[in-house]
Amino acid sequence: MPHLRPFVSAVVRPIPITTRDERIAELDRAGHNPFNIRGEKVSIDLLSDSGTGAVSTDQQAWAQRADERYAGADSWYRFRDAVRDLVPHEHVLPVHQGRAAERVLFGCLLGPGDISLSNMHFDTTRANVERLGAEARDLPSPELFDLSSPAPFKGDIDVEAVQAVLDGPEGPRVKQIVVTITNNGGGGQPVSMANLERISAVAREHRVPLVLDAARFAENAWLVTRRDPGYQDWSPRAVARKAFEFADAVVASLKKDGLSHEGAFIAVHDPELADRCEADVIATEGFRTYGGLTGHTLEQLAQGLREVLDPHYLADREHEAASLAERLQAAGIETLRPTGLHAVYVNASPLLPHLQPKHLPDHALTCALYREGGVRAAGGGLFLSTFDENNEMVTPPPFELVRLALPRRVYDHSHMEYVADVLAEIAKNPERVPGYRLTHNPAVLRHFRCRAEPI
Ligand code: F0G
Repeated sequence: MPHLRPFVSAVVRPIPITTRDERIAELDRAGHNPFNIRGEKVSIDLLSDSGTGAVSTDQQAWAQRADERYAGADSWYRFRDAVRDLVPHEHVLPVHQGRAAERVLFGCLLGPGDISLSNMHFDTTRANVERLGAEARDLPSPELFDLSSPAPFKGDIDVEAVQAVLDGPEGPRVKQIVVTITNNGGGGQPVSMANLERISAVAREHRVPLVLDAARFAENAWLVTRRDPGYQDWSPRAVARKAFEFADAVVASLKKDGLSHEGAFIAVHDPELADRCEADVIATEGFRTYGGLTGHTLEQLAQGLREVLDPHYLADREHEAASLAERLQAAGIETLRPTGLHAVYVNASPLLPHLQPKHLPDHALTCALYREGGVRAAGGGLFLSTFDENNEMVTPPPFELVRLALPRRVYDHSHMEYVADVLAEIAKNPERVPGYRLTHNPAVLRHFRCRAEPI
């Protein structure tokens, strides 16, 4: 059967068409950091899949019925029921976005000197651990580092490595285990159900809470049905529910699989933990029945959480990502395998062999992609490397990947072909892509805030 996209555009927005000279000037103005580029100068924006999706006509219709009462609004109950239809946790708290959920929950679990173990902490997750004086330690599956391995669940946490830390002298300092589904920092690779089951048993045995960072829970569930024969007959919803059952606590940014522009939730079983989180949410986000979100958003989220688990929608998302990856591979451009759902990751180092790690190949490719085609993306290398006080790289990143994040339901096939064609053009004369050095290098969340110049 040929692929049939399961939706059409109901409202459209024109995109800016810019000249190469305009983009060169904008890159200079932005300190060669894509996060500083003005949206009006970006034609195709693949910087993030977070909060960038299109809402459906049904989401808009529900939003019209929003109840904006301060407490106990109907919209809150519809949102809460949609969340409770997925998670078994008794206590659900809304917050304005995922990092607020992290800040509140981790603030109740961690203190100075404690350790948080994870398959990979997302950037803000790490920052929210470190700001409490705790250590964020990534223990991904060793398969993750083989970018071309077709292993189906490279997002898994290394259970043996976790066990070794827990049984060693540092064991008593481990106060949480965070499993990120899908593993965004690790190329959007899924986590298997077997891995969740094993890590939850280890966590329970050591009385350490298992936290699910479930920003892309629906995409993880879909990939489980596609890659684990034991789940091929399961619905994505049933898989997602089972995954949530393994967790003592959940933090979920809903800017991804909530199909909304804002929002997140915390879900916990433990009433005492819920009480402490609630006090923080009321003090810093909003009352426990809105957490900084409007009734309008709560309604969109309730509907979004229903739509996101539609197998036709998820199959379409897989198809779009796979088509982009295949077109790139056909042009000789290496992408991270197997392709996930929320992004296609381009391996910059083999594409730009003339650039050493200290010349920031993924950053260089990101800038070239913008300069040549007005396409905005982000490199991951800066976040994963360390520098000395003279801006010299001390530890290079394990991989230099450019993430082409795919906003949900926004771009069509022709936009993706355009992106692939721009990259294919760059790949014809890669030696023309200059390396970079940092001119401003903040230690915390460097990639969001740095400035750079071509060398
Ligand atoms: N956890 C994961 C796995 C994420 O990918 C993100 C955000 C967050 C937590 C934080 O959620 O943005 O709602 O505060 N990821 C975005 C991205 C920013 O582009 O990957 P948030």
